[in-house]
Amino acid sequence: MEKTFIMVKPDGVKRGIMGEIISKIEKKGFEIKQAKLFKPSRELIEKHYEEHKEKTFFNELMDYILSGPVMAMEVEGESAIEIMRKMIGNKDPKLASLGTIRGDFANSITKNIIHGSDSIKSAQCELNLWFN
Ligand code: PPS
Repeated sequence: MEKTFIMVKPDGVKRGIMGEIISKIEKKGFEIKQAKLFKPSRELIEKHYEEHKEKTFFNELMDYILSGPVMAMEVEGESAIEIMRKMIGNKDPKLASLGTIRGDFANSITKNIIHGSDSIKSAQCELNLWFN
């Protein structure tokens, strides 16, 4: 069993897509062990995206994630990290396949609806950051 960190970003919450995303996760057979809907602090988001601090898109990304509530989730299941990344799709919705969450619901690389941890190490760090 593996645990991963999933965040429905502000546009997913605002546009009312959260229910469909949760349904996809559950239908895939994964269990949502913890979830919270809230407006994260700048400090939390800066830590979460720390590795991208020097990137040109960092400020835009900060403003966007701070623009409204997000749904943070701990998702558990076999190969949950890799399978959730496949279900989420490419970060650039132009490249995301139809059938993936970003392929079906997003049209902007900034407002790309959802985040999922990309490795066991980042899943552990992110779950620790968001739920402890
Ligand atoms: S990169 O390009 O290698 O730095 O990107 P990556 O490690 O995949 O993660 C980048 C995160 O920032 C979000 N984001 C963007 N990435 C690239 N370009 C632009 N313009 C951009 N805007 C936002 C991207 O979705 C990744 O965040 P998460 O939350 O993991 O999806």
